[in-house]
Amino acid sequence: MRVSSGIPGFDEIVQGGLLRDRLYVVSGPPGSGKTTFSSQFITEGAKSGENCLYVTMHETKEELMQDMSGYDFGFDQVMASGTVQFLNLMTDSGKRTITQFGTDGGLTNRIVAFLEQQEIDRAVIDSTMLLQHFFENVSDEITGFLSALKQTGTTTVLISEMTDPSSYADEHYLAHGVIFFHNYLDSGGMTRGVQVIKMRGTAIDCDIRPIEFSDQGLRVIADKRVEA
Ligand SMILES: Nc1ncnc2c1ncn2[C@@H]1O[C@H](COP(=O)(O)OP(=O)(O)OP(=O)(O)O)[C@@H](O)[C@H]1O
Ligand SMILES: [Mg+2]
Repeated sequence: MRVSSGIPGFDEIVQGGLLRDRLYVVSGPPGSGKTTFSSQFITEGAKSGENCLYVTMHETKEELMQDMSGYDFGFDQVMASGTVQFLNLMTDSGKRTITQFGTDGGLTNRIVAFLEQQEIDRAVIDSTMLLQHFFENVSDEITGFLSALKQTGTTTVLISEMTDPSSYADEHYLAHGVIFFHNYLDSGGMTRGVQVIKMRGTAIDCDIRPIEFSDQGLRVIADKRVEA
């Protein structure tokens, strides 16, 4: 079963929406739209009556709401309505909350226990770069974390900054779907685009589609392609 991503034009390039309960990795350079995409994804879930969780490691709820306050897609309403739980793992209160979900197995088990016990339908985790701070053996633990996330009944967007844009990371291989945001140079200056690199169970073409930011947020121009 597919659910709407909440990003106008995006569902059209993935056969009508995202397969439920799967793990999607969203990557791209700074300022390319990863957090905006994730905020629209969460807003859509909350508006459809899904139980939502936004996990961050670098932004407070206030900062995130301020960043999204230029848009009208309804983020502030859903955040205020209590249908979205917000967990900032850098704060004492966020750490206390997550500690209640198990004392062994570290962060992976706790986040998975949170998703399961709270019956979270849709989650965002922003981001792998900061997640690394919680892991001792980063490569092994990230792999374990992704494998565990894939088993949950939660449709999850995991943001992964690409530290090395020329090579894929473990999370790109392990995820069910991989979405890249691009900032690219063309004759008119810098343009933005989105590219679905893979989406298991879904016919995709891997083309880069232009994206636009307006007061409604991020939008994919599904019928246009960016020529490389
Ligand atoms: N109306 C608007 N309100 C807020 N930001 C806007 C607006 N229009 C365009 N933008 C731009 O959208 C860009 C996308 O930001 P976003 O936070 O989604 O990127 P990101 O990929 O998460 O970046 P980072 O890696 O730094 O976290 C911002 O750099 C911002 O300048
Ligand atoms: Mg961001």
